Amino acid sequence: MNISDSHKISTLPLSKLEAGCTPLKARSRVLKEGQIIHLPVSGTSRLVLERAWQHITEVFGAEPRLAHKRLKRPEFLHCVSEAKQVIFQDRELRNLLLDILCNTFNSRAGIRFDPPRLRVVPPWQSLLPEPLAPEEEEGACQPISRSTLAEAGLLPLFSTHRDTFYANPQSQINIWLALHDVGPQDSFRFYPQYFDEPVANDSHLFNYDNWKEDVGFGKSQSNHAESKKALYPQALDEDALQDPAAFSLKEGEAIVFAAAHLHGTSPHCCPGTRFSLDMRAVESEDLQPGGLQAPNRDNKSQGSSLQDYLKLEV
Ligand SMILES: [Fe+2]
Repeated sequence: MNISDSHKISTLPLSKLEAGCTPLKARSRVLKEGQIIHLPVSGTSRLVLERAWQHITEVFGAEPRLAHKRLKRPEFLHCVSEAKQVIFQDRELRNLLLDILCNTFNSRAGIRFDPPRLRVVPPWQSLLPEPLAPEEEEGACQPISRSTLAEAGLLPLFSTHRDTFYANPQSQINIWLALHDVGPQDSFRFYPQYFDEPVANDSHLFNYDNWKEDVGFGKSQSNHAESKKALYPQALDEDALQDPAAFSLKEGEAIVFAAAHLHGTSPHCCPGTRFSLDMRAVESEDLQPGGLQAPNRDNKSQGSSLQDYLKLEV
């Protein structure tokens, strides 16, 4: 069974916010109704693009999306780790993304957030420990089997999960911004019908404090010895999940969605490495009794990532 072809992936319907929609209503649509909101390109998102690509190019060199072809694997993974750190620590980039969120979904005084995370997904062929023979690389793009991913220690990158399985708050919303045009093959897949329905999963084994000590963000692609030891909570019977849907975005466009949505990255064989940014945010008032939160039908993770979230200096 192949992750990339085991189900027909349809196009995800994205919602738009009408002018004048209040932050409370916008978060309600995301958290209570499970809507996945499309944000168009804006002046602020163009600044995000400019700054992010500046960092990425400084680390990877010219044509970063093709760096996987010219760099040896350890060197490529080193660049991934370095770029993630630079973007994680860039306060200006962080503030631009916070501006986008606070313009529509959050209050500046109430927002708690995790700094921006760069995601880097090269074509699956370049992730294998041993490069494919030239004749194997040629021709039509072949789906990769789950067993091949497992042998290469790559399954955690492509698991189907809710971010709440990682002890992220039920009130959390995520923004995911495309750093270049993406389509259904190299965006990622959602399973919207499971937003309010349980799936079998192993989140009960996840403890945030243990995970932070063993793995932490940024080690997953750069240190496989550690990542193999760690638990990446996921849906257990992936083949039983129905109707995945992926999406298309132009560069600088974004989606906002509940962290409780079931989703996962699919291995792709597009020519260019996928680069994207995402950030997680929670509104403080949603954490109060009776506050907005997504339904929890199956998440049994322990601990809370909220302890590491930041407040905006206002
Ligand atoms: Fe995720």
